[in-house]
Amino acid sequence: MLIDTHAHLTDKAFADNVQEIIAKAKECTVTKIITSGFDYDSSVEAVEFAKKYQGIYASVGVYPENIYEYNDEIEHKLEALTKNSKVVAIGEIGLQYTEDMPEREKQKEIFLRQLSLASRCKLPVVIHCRDAYGDMIELLKKNKSLLSQGGTLHCFGGSYEIAKEAIKLGLYISVGGVSTFKNAINLKETLTKLPLENMILETDCPYLAPHPYRGKLNMPSYIPTIAENLAKLKDVSVEEVAKVTSYNAEKLFKFK
Ligand code: NI
Repeated sequence: MLIDTHAHLTDKAFADNVQEIIAKAKECTVTKIITSGFDYDSSVEAVEFAKKYQGIYASVGVYPENIYEYNDEIEHKLEALTKNSKVVAIGEIGLQYTEDMPEREKQKEIFLRQLSLASRCKLPVVIHCRDAYGDMIELLKKNKSLLSQGGTLHCFGGSYEIAKEAIKLGLYISVGGVSTFKNAINLKETLTKLPLENMILETDCPYLAPHPYRGKLNMPSYIPTIAENLAKLKDVSVEEVAKVTSYNAEKLFKFK
């Protein structure tokens, strides 16, 4: 059994054949999938979607690009969404310091508000982080009490040092398709050194398909490809990767 802890099944790329995509995932032993929101509307869609399909769960939140929509009303509405038993996390939320993103102080403010929301709702957090790992770790260290339900650094791409800090904060390192790329030398080395006990798997589909599907449409049925690559890096069997990462995901997200 494998778990895809981060996907975007409501993406229009899957609009025509989502049932087929889910069936294919199940054939590939991917029995649970978390479909993630990234703003309020996509969070509503994720919850509706999770309600409809067995084995599909949702996370709700507003990620860096969309934080200007965040206000008290949206926060209350997100909190209301978490009342559904298939909502297993707040996310994706986080920091992204690339060009054309909202100003950093505003990003930190909204990220912090959603960390508080997660703490209040007793849910783990799914963290999106790009080019902001230093500030991310600093902010999380200062607000460690808000991480009582744990969380994950989704699509992890940071250094070994950052990963160690994140693990100390009780976060899981989420391993996705990038870890299979030929040029992901540093990430591969980092994963080799980290314990499997701190890892979970994800696709982030429809984006970031693993090698040899790089550049094509990503889907949850590629989780075995990511697991096989990780098994090679860790020099363990793919069964071991499946067992440990699924156990970790169950522990973190407490699927009902
Ligand atoms: Ni994502």
